[in-house]
Amino acid sequence: MLKIKENYFILETEHTSLVLKNDGGEVVYLYYGEKLNNYCGIELYEDGWKSSILSQCGTGNHREPALGVRFSDGSRKTNLKFHRARIVPFEKIEGLPCSYGAEKSLRLEFIDAPSKLKLYVTYTAYEESDVVSVATSLYNGGKKPVYLESVPSVQLEVRGRDFSFITFDGDWASERRRHEHKIGVGKLVNESIVGSSSHHHNPFTLIERAGEVYAVNLVYSGNHRTVVESNDAGKTRLIAGISPYAFDWELLPGASFFAPEAVVAYAATEEEASLCMRRFVSEHIVRGKWKKKPRPILVNNWEATYFDFNAEKILSLADVAAEIGAELFVLDDGWFGARDDDFRGLGDWEDHVEKTGGIGILADKIRAKGLKFGIWVEPEMVNEDSDLYRKHPEYAMKIPRREPTRMRNQIMLNLADPQVQGFVYRAIARVIEQCKAQYIKWDYNRTMTDCFDKSSHSGEYYHRYILGLYNVLEKLTARFPNVLFESCASGGGRFDLGMLCYMPQTWTSDNTDARDRVYIQAGTAAAYPQSTMGAHVSICPNHQTQNSNSLETRFDVACGGVLGYEYDLTKLTDAEKKEISEQISFYKAHRELLQFGTQYMLGNAFEGDMSGFITVSPDKSKAISVVCLPFRRVWYHTVCTKFQGLDEKAVYAVSYRDAVGNLVKLGEASGALLCKGQFRLDTVYDTVDTKRYSNPMYTRLYLFEKVSAKRRKTNE
Ligand code: GLA
Repeated sequence: MLKIKENYFILETEHTSLVLKNDGGEVVYLYYGEKLNNYCGIELYEDGWKSSILSQCGTGNHREPALGVRFSDGSRKTNLKFHRARIVPFEKIEGLPCSYGAEKSLRLEFIDAPSKLKLYVTYTAYEESDVVSVATSLYNGGKKPVYLESVPSVQLEVRGRDFSFITFDGDWASERRRHEHKIGVGKLVNESIVGSSSHHHNPFTLIERAGEVYAVNLVYSGNHRTVVESNDAGKTRLIAGISPYAFDWELLPGASFFAPEAVVAYAATEEEASLCMRRFVSEHIVRGKWKKKPRPILVNNWEATYFDFNAEKILSLADVAAEIGAELFVLDDGWFGARDDDFRGLGDWEDHVEKTGGIGILADKIRAKGLKFGIWVEPEMVNEDSDLYRKHPEYAMKIPRREPTRMRNQIMLNLADPQVQGFVYRAIARVIEQCKAQYIKWDYNRTMTDCFDKSSHSGEYYHRYILGLYNVLEKLTARFPNVLFESCASGGGRFDLGMLCYMPQTWTSDNTDARDRVYIQAGTAAAYPQSTMGAHVSICPNHQTQNSNSLETRFDVACGGVLGYEYDLTKLTDAEKKEISEQISFYKAHRELLQFGTQYMLGNAFEGDMSGFITVSPDKSKAISVVCLPFRRVWYHTVCTKFQGLDEKAVYAVSYRDAVGNLVKLGEASGALLCKGQFRLDTVYDTVDTKRYSNPMYTRLYLFEKVSAKRRKTNE
């Protein structure tokens, strides 16, 4: 619900209210929190120290300013004053991906009289998700260019200086580990300056204190920054948007600049805020044919073969993939150009016929086995040892007369250039058509270093690159609406809402070790639903960590996302093959629940003795929980958990899945007891043969099925 009442602007979602006021030309926060059904007395909540929705330079407010504008005379003061508020039809953001599914928005307009610069801040309420989206744009109505040094997507300001700042940080193979920082009196920054949303600092952040949590994310895949600042006077400010690092946008007269959309949620607890964000992503970010469609169980050949394969090897893998019940075969890196290792071939999206025997033919042979066919591409990159580079060195991202920085032996293509965008679009469309791909894994395996484009202003480069990428993705996904796209960036280096607008799935991490996956998936699930997280079972010892865990444990953990196998299936023993077939048929039987149910986190995946998740069906009739015990404790009797999300009034049949896939019935228990009582987990230590796996992680998968009232009566 959106309402304009004189100088007050009210946005309501199912459980929250946001009240803004035009206070003498400045729009300020009066209230953001639990839903109010009566706003009587709201004027009493006006604040002597105004909490602005957007702070400006030169206005006497000496904390972090949100908006940074430099005029052609070198001055930086702006005085954007409220002009009017309107309820407008919901609009897409020009050139950028954004949320969808709302009909109306509230638009606030501001004007800086001397420069005729206009600012628009547009709010949309996603009622059932309890999320508010904010889209900010600037229009240069003057006669001279202005230079944008920082454009916020959103500014939040709350009372109190006892908040913590929660960030999700990491690196390659250790993405999105939750960190909590006390803000105190001072300033903290969560930022990516590597050209992508990054492995290092995800754009999703929260500020929280007991009973009060604000979650913020950006619909953006490039450099981003969130600054939080608390001052002695007791105010905490959060500003999120494109990182101002190397950002200086020339806004010509008559032109507009659109900042990426920000999405904000208020809740009483971190878990509730996370549930709101995940609901929002499933409903208003992920789109197209695959939005709610069961995602296929895939087999990927990367860890099975790396670059060393031929058609025969791939077909033998596909034979076993079909036999064990997988549904999609993904041919990873190495099928094109002269790509026999990672020194060459990127950019040459032509079949490596000696290896594949013809990509179209290979794909058809795989489909003939009853599998869908998917293929890996890394379209934003080029190797200098490639026909593309030899023919079009000008397509590469390079600074004239400077040696480019190579990462994984590759350099990037200059996607800021429309000609290069055209090349990438045509090349990938051709690949899809040639092999009738039903799935594309779109990889991006380095960070950006040699930013340069002869026709763009240098301060515009990073953003222009991302706009170029979105332009290509917009066209490709429109042309191939049936293809399931999965985004990847050396694992989870671009797990963000921008990519999810085009690609319903992301490869969560190259680290497939179950023990590490527990925290990587829990950190990811703070902001992104499990249907967006690729989760594969791979061989042991694990290729990244050398740790070993049982096949059952690896499967249990992968049930937290979209299941796949990244494994040399031809080397499986008959017993392992049977075990995996059972896993796949169990996952298929419960796929709807596992991929689209409401997932709650259990314990503490980052530093606890116990962690895991429980995924509950919308009607609460069924739930699956996986509990994970990272180490065997001496005093193990104390290891237990409270489940979540079950219908407390109902009775559930409780069973667990044993190593060979049998369901072992434990008994019946009320939802109330399961959620409130301490459920014993010490029996989980019996799941692993410790003679085979030393120092393993212990997991168990529990199934809860509501016992119907009728059956209960008969039993009584
Ligand atoms: C990246 C991906 C892997 C794999 C390789 C191929 O590292 O994250 O899954 O596709 O590239 O080169």
